[in-house]
Amino acid sequence: MSDIEQYVDGLYETDAVLTRVKEGIAAEGMPSISIAEGYGRLLTLLVRMSGAEKVLEIGALGGYSGICLARGMEGKEGGGSLVSLELLQPYADVAARHLAEAGYDGIAEYIVGDAKESLARLKEQGRKFDFFFIDADKEGYPIYLDYALELALPGALIVADNILLRGRTTDAAKQGPAVQAVRSFNEKIARDVRLESTILPGYDGLAIARVRG
Ligand code: DHB
Ligand code: MG
Repeated sequence: MSDIEQYVDGLYETDAVLTRVKEGIAAEGMPSISIAEGYGRLLTLLVRMSGAEKVLEIGALGGYSGICLARGMEGKEGGGSLVSLELLQPYADVAARHLAEAGYDGIAEYIVGDAKESLARLKEQGRKFDFFFIDADKEGYPIYLDYALELALPGALIVADNILLRGRTTDAAKQGPAVQAVRSFNEKIARDVRLESTILPGYDGLAIARVRG
């Protein structure tokens, strides 16, 4: 993290709930790759400001971002809902436990398995969402974006983590499949006529797009 990112994060009081979640993730031997604190706060703000109430997350890990998303729906009439797609059952179990401990067990539904198959099923079922958070395998980002566009209500927001891949995205020598997929994802975020968007270069990069309509 840069000095500036550290300075900004240091302005905030320690978040006891999210600190416990990070400790829980480490204790389970899961990777410490939850979304940056500043972007967690941004997720909560974006959900709250947009009034989103049907959130789809692709990649649950240990529930850190799930809690940030759920916080943004707090106090909503009807409570809002979070559908979270996760490849690994043990990760989904940890995430569900962390959401329950944070008081959000009522709103979260975990779907375990390959996200592409889960997305195809959600599409078949005619499910629609007004907020998407993409934070799963990076090779899948272009496909996840296509599905988000298909499952989006008009005006839906699409947010994606790690679009800089810790510098690999902008390193011309890097040409692996994940890097190429994320470059193509970023280009589509910037240029697809169905989207208005911006890309934040702080931390590991965050894409934010709104589906026109
Ligand atoms: C890494 C970080 C992430 O936030 C993620 O979703 C995947 C990988 C990483 O730093 O390796
Ligand atoms: Mg991430």
